[in-house]
Amino acid sequence: MSMDLRVGFIGGGAMAEAIVAGIVQGTVSPSDIYVSDHKEARCQQLAEQYGIHASVGADSFIGNVDVLFLAVKPQVADKAIAEVRDKVGSKTLILSIVAGLTLDVLEASFAEQPVVRIMPNTPLSVGAGMSAFACGTRAGRTEAAVVSELLSAAGRAVEVAESAMDAVTGLSGSGPAYVFLLIDALSDGGVAAGLKRDAATLLAAQTVYGAAKMVLETGKHPDVLRDQVTSPAGTTIAGVRVLENRGLRGALIDAVLAATEKSRELGKK
Ligand SMILES: NC(=O)c1ccc[n+]([C@@H]2O[C@H](COP(=O)([O-])OP(=O)(O)OC[C@H]3O[C@@H](n4cnc5c(N)ncnc54)[C@H](OP(=O)(O)O)[C@@H]3O)[C@@H](O)[C@H]2O)c1
Repeated sequence: MSMDLRVGFIGGGAMAEAIVAGIVQGTVSPSDIYVSDHKEARCQQLAEQYGIHASVGADSFIGNVDVLFLAVKPQVADKAIAEVRDKVGSKTLILSIVAGLTLDVLEASFAEQPVVRIMPNTPLSVGAGMSAFACGTRAGRTEAAVVSELLSAAGRAVEVAESAMDAVTGLSGSGPAYVFLLIDALSDGGVAAGLKRDAATLLAAQTVYGAAKMVLETGKHPDVLRDQVTSPAGTTIAGVRVLENRGLRGALIDAVLAATEKSRELGKK
């Protein structure tokens, strides 16, 4: 069902495109989507590919959108905010995906508007993103529902307290890299066991995808699902024993904690 919203983007990079690609498929009408990017060629490409409006500069739409995504790199966010803050409507919902930009700073920059901070991840680009969002003091349940529906067009979304954003960064933000490493290592194992590389990588990636889908769709605890495929004295328990002996579980816990701590440190700078 299409939402009757006009949605603008400041920045037409990879993450903005991923959200556009998701929401044009039935959530928001392409004619209600506006993107501003620095590069004319990029604007043309986005307009042609998705049937949306895209322009260098936001003046043509900034006072006229219900939702405005800030989708620029952190180092240029101040400049992008300064360009739009006095032109954006007082009721426009501001959604920032800028890493590290806090709700305090967003609320100080946009004095009247409701603001929401979002941490997406790169699988958003294939419609399987995991986004967490935290609402500012002026964003209520209606705004949260709008954010959730927009983000769900390109994956899944969950609301968290802003204090959880570093942990989100350490888990789902950095997590795709952990899983790429896991898939690569499983593929190496397959090659070591005699498989061709292409087949090994396909087997590894689809196995990770399928296992994740089972967790999400059955709602069963991962331990229960693991137990269901682990027969007494069988092959699976032989493999699991090695992973437990080598500390895979502890390594993954430590990886999430290390990335969370790093995010906290970077946030203080
Ligand atoms: N990629 C990820 O995995 C990921 C995950 C979570 C969060 N994020 C966050 O998402 C945000 C966007 O990331 P991205 O990878 O999509 O960045 P990106 O590909 O660099 O896209 C940003 C685009 O915005 C343009 N731009 C910069 N300032 C502008 C302005 N004032 N007005 C209009 N356009 C402007 C840039 O053009 P020029 O290059 O010509 O300046 C660029 O085309 C970042 O803050 C990042 O922290 C990314």
